[in-house]
Amino acid sequence: MERLVNKRILLGVTGGIAAYKSADLVRRLQDAGAEVRVVMTAGACEFITPLTMQALSGHPVHTDLLDPRAEAAMGHIELARWADLVLIAPASANFMARMAHGHGNDLLTTLCLATGAPIALAPAMNQQMWADTATQKNLLILQEKGVRLFGPGSGSQACGEVGPGRMLEPAEIAQMAAEVFDHDLLTGLHVVINAGPTREAIDPVRYITNQSSGKMGFAIAEAAAEAGARVTLISGPVNLPTPTRVKRTDVIRAEEMFDACLSAVDQGCDIFIATAAVADYRPTVTADHKIKKSTEEIHLTLVKNRDIVASVSAHDRRPFTVGFAAETRDVMTYAQAKLENKKLDMIATNDVSGENVGFNSDNNALTVIWPGGHKVLPLAAKRQIAKQLIELIAIRYKR
Ligand code: PMT
Repeated sequence: MERLVNKRILLGVTGGIAAYKSADLVRRLQDAGAEVRVVMTAGACEFITPLTMQALSGHPVHTDLLDPRAEAAMGHIELARWADLVLIAPASANFMARMAHGHGNDLLTTLCLATGAPIALAPAMNQQMWADTATQKNLLILQEKGVRLFGPGSGSQACGEVGPGRMLEPAEIAQMAAEVFDHDLLTGLHVVINAGPTREAIDPVRYITNQSSGKMGFAIAEAAAEAGARVTLISGPVNLPTPTRVKRTDVIRAEEMFDACLSAVDQGCDIFIATAAVADYRPTVTADHKIKKSTEEIHLTLVKNRDIVASVSAHDRRPFTVGFAAETRDVMTYAQAKLENKKLDMIATNDVSGENVGFNSDNNALTVIWPGGHKVLPLAAKRQIAKQLIELIAIRYKR
């Protein structure tokens, strides 16, 4: 259950008598360390009030796609991106049918279409409805889409019948939710990640840097640790907390980052992921004292920094090496060239020309390229993108 610590669970409640158990489920998930936001369908509100769920979750409950007040607080797309897991409990036959056929006719179905997070359903319905061929066909469609199924259990039902269709108990659902995050893809491996910008000093008060916040690299470090890896994070100057179970080394200059990364690789590393926006050049000399503005122009001479990721991939104990490429045009062409020139196993390229993506944003979209293949990871929160990237790296590494 430790796996639920700091996880963001979007709990969808649909119309059915089992909705009363969702109140207990909120508590179970929170007790395990998760943050819970609740979305209720109109049917669910007939069985349990949004106020109850609001009081338990500690957050306003979202019920309506077209509610301007709720949209102003956290819009439905933001909510879809926020979640690490969308858990629908109880999931009614009607909801499963709408979801299977891609409907977006209320808030919850729209969120399911818009999220990149895993989705799990805990069905609850009369045993005859569960056995009906329409429900079973919808179930197959949902499973083909990768939706996870928690239950249903079997036994006596609220309607007086006996059979499959009972929603699992909240404790069982919380346990299964924890197992979604328990993938141990990188157990036993040492992963070294660099992140953030570097700062190249001009004089004691001025420097050259870039807009990297470190968010992408820190999210990848968190995802790698969750996947069971021992993680070393070498970070430039950023304002972010260290993810749990991650060993962090702080550096400022590109040359310091070079030394820290190569030393970590010397000590033995299985996978190296270069998310840092390393300064390509540094001033040839750093003035000992603050440069005075005595002339109209000053000229800086810059010298190229050593390439960290290329040096890691040329190391004689070479790890599986993953680079990033930040581009504003001809994204695929430049990324492909970097993959080949730096002799990488994989490169994740992001178009950083947009506002809500790449540098300093909470979101990103990547195209991941390797020799002979590629995969698009569409726009999502960096935490979600990081998980998808780690899964992809684990698959390619194991090959
Ligand atoms: O930090 P965030 O605000 O979350 O933003 C994330 C990000 C946009 C910084 C990240 O997603 C990203 O794209 N990182 C790579 C940025 C970059 O420097 O790209 P590049 O195309 O210039 O470099 C290509 C690769 O070479 C990168 O893996 C880079 O780390 C590496 N490199 C570059 C120069 C150098 N001297 N040494 C290197 O290792």
